[in-house]
Amino acid sequence: MSHKHMIWCDQETLSKDITGKIYIVTGANSGVGLETTRQLIKQGGHVVMACRRVEAAQKETASFIDLKGSYDIIRCDLTDLQSVREFSEAFLKKYHRLDGLMCNAGMVVMESAIQYTSDGFEKTFGVNFLGHFLLTELLLDILAKTEGSRYGILSSVVHAGSPKNRYEVHLDDLNFENRKYNNFAAYGEAKTASVQYAMELGKRLKDTGVATASIHPGWARSNFGSGGNFLMRTLMAIARPFTKSISNSNWESAQTSLHVLLSEDAPKHSGAYFSQHSVLYRDAACKKGGWPMKSPNPHANNMEAAKELVTKSYQLVGLK
Ligand SMILES: NC(=O)c1ccc[n+]([C@@H]2O[C@H](COP(=O)([O-])OP(=O)(O)OC[C@H]3O[C@@H](n4cnc5c(N)ncnc54)[C@H](OP(=O)(O)O)[C@@H]3O)[C@@H](O)[C@H]2O)c1
Repeated sequence: MSHKHMIWCDQETLSKDITGKIYIVTGANSGVGLETTRQLIKQGGHVVMACRRVEAAQKETASFIDLKGSYDIIRCDLTDLQSVREFSEAFLKKYHRLDGLMCNAGMVVMESAIQYTSDGFEKTFGVNFLGHFLLTELLLDILAKTEGSRYGILSSVVHAGSPKNRYEVHLDDLNFENRKYNNFAAYGEAKTASVQYAMELGKRLKDTGVATASIHPGWARSNFGSGGNFLMRTLMAIARPFTKSISNSNWESAQTSLHVLLSEDAPKHSGAYFSQHSVLYRDAACKKGGWPMKSPNPHANNMEAAKELVTKSYQLVGLK
């Protein structure tokens, strides 16, 4: 049975015919991304699955066989900016419209030691934010020229932190050279950056008709956090049955992304943060979530900080 605070897409949204529309979903082979992809194909859409493990994506497509729409798989490894560039080149060569870009892929480093992307960025920030930043900027023109297009980027309840400790993006020390590395702080900062970016992009694209959003999908029973050492994996497996009643299935966790991509209401709130319910919010008022909802983290809502993030990110990915 679903949680009493579960927020669902309405039937009108989930039965719209989207034949002819083209979407990109990153991390489409697993969890929230896979359920988002499946529903878009069910409604007639064409989804380009941007995945780092093409074979894993191919395996999942067996379940799309009877669905109305179609799919394509193009490799995209967010730990490698060259791979992101190659994905966008391949996409732009083949497609001439983009109705929705869902930057869904994400990970958290499960070990205590810092890890880096091939371009030398701390991995959590590199995958969750910087890789998606480059992908998005390379696809802005095609998004803008497609009427009514949508953009979403996955954040997390974690970005909210607690009233005593709100995550702030350390643009001056993204690689933790002058502070102790903490894998969850790196994740919290990357997901704060995602909220800021959707807000900045919403403002920048105001006159183009592209509607943007950041998303907390709920506590998904996906493959998220399944890496790590033996002790970590064992603890996660033991905890799983006890968290079932307060967590969400992957289908439930795809609802917010589908609302952002397909509903009539989401574009009225371009730039906003959309959250599924979550017991993990430390602020009691946030636990029910909201479509949209104001982030309790003031740094996430700070437009000046968002603009600085974008300026810095352009430099880091070599765009300007
Ligand atoms: N699960 C939760 O409770 C929760 C809560 C809040 C926010 N989120 C966010 O929701 C999003 C979806 O996560 P999920 O729960 O569905 O987890 P998941 O089942 O682990 O799926 C994550 C997806 O991201 C992909 N990915 C990881 N590293 C990548 C890389 N370097 N390049 C390209 N793709 C990469 C994974 O590919 P592989 O299969 O190849 O690893 C997988 O397809 C993430 O952004 C996550 O941060 C999740």
